[in-house]
Amino acid sequence: MRLLILWWYEVLPEWYRLIAGDPDCFTAGATADDVARRDRWPENEPVSESWMLNELAHAGPEHLDEMFIAGYDRKQGYPDPAEDLAAFEAHGLGASSVIVDLGAGTGQFALAAARRFGRVTAADVSPAMVAALRGRAATAGLANLRCVRAGFLSYDHDGPLADGVYTRNALHQIPDFWKGLALSRIAGMLRPGGVLRLRDLIYDFQPREAGEVFAGWLGNAAADPADGYTAGDYAEHIRTEFSTYRWLLEPMLAVAGFEITSVTFDRRLYGAYTCVKAQ
Ligand SMILES: C[S@@+](CC[C@H](N)C(=O)[O-])C[C@H]1O[C@@H](n2cnc3c(N)ncnc32)[C@H](O)[C@@H]1O
Repeated sequence: MRLLILWWYEVLPEWYRLIAGDPDCFTAGATADDVARRDRWPENEPVSESWMLNELAHAGPEHLDEMFIAGYDRKQGYPDPAEDLAAFEAHGLGASSVIVDLGAGTGQFALAAARRFGRVTAADVSPAMVAALRGRAATAGLANLRCVRAGFLSYDHDGPLADGVYTRNALHQIPDFWKGLALSRIAGMLRPGGVLRLRDLIYDFQPREAGEVFAGWLGNAAADPADGYTAGDYAEHIRTEFSTYRWLLEPMLAVAGFEITSVTFDRRLYGAYTCVKAQ
């Protein structure tokens, strides 16, 4: 079992790096400490802290799997980024704005954002997702879209402070303590008045209502895993991932220095927040 885990988290990502053309893949030029470290790319330096969460180990094994990624957009139902682009524009962001997309996945939002805004950085902790995203960015010829492998806790923003940060269906990958840290880091990369657009699976109910809400969710799940998330997928999400309650997340946003300017919920499960960093 330990060997399997080692292979999954240590060897497989190195092969992704090799395929993606990273000259430092495997252990070339690395010290023993470097090898022990999970992430050695420059944008992942904070991960070298001994107490830091291993984001790759929490990324969801499916997000490291090329086969899954190939079918990802279909499974997601090709979500339209129009509402999210409009949320940024409603706060004055435009052609010269700097945007960061954290947990960017295959780039449904980042590609559209790069056509609308000035400079977009799409970050994802999964080497395979970043490889897919880089391929798409190259095909689209979007020179203002930068794709980096980095996580919520390791992305190192450089250049001017961001005008907007976007993240969709990714923050639940990390437990609440780390969400707090991630939100604080997001606030740190935004200019005062900058906008956070946060979408995620968030529980907008009381603990005693969980059974009823989940029964409705699983009852309306896709039958075919290629077409959407199945009841099994949702059950696994509930058991193994870290969706938090709305009544815990909103104070976390406030502590990080955000004012919530709009919030909508779908089925008491899918939250969409627009937040502004305090001036
Ligand atoms: C469900 S997908 C969402 C992708 C995209 N945002 C979308 O809406 O289609 C979750 C993504 O978050 C990434 N991810 C998981 N943990 C992460 C972390 N700690 N930091 C950054 N990205 C992470 C995964 O690799 C995956 O691409």
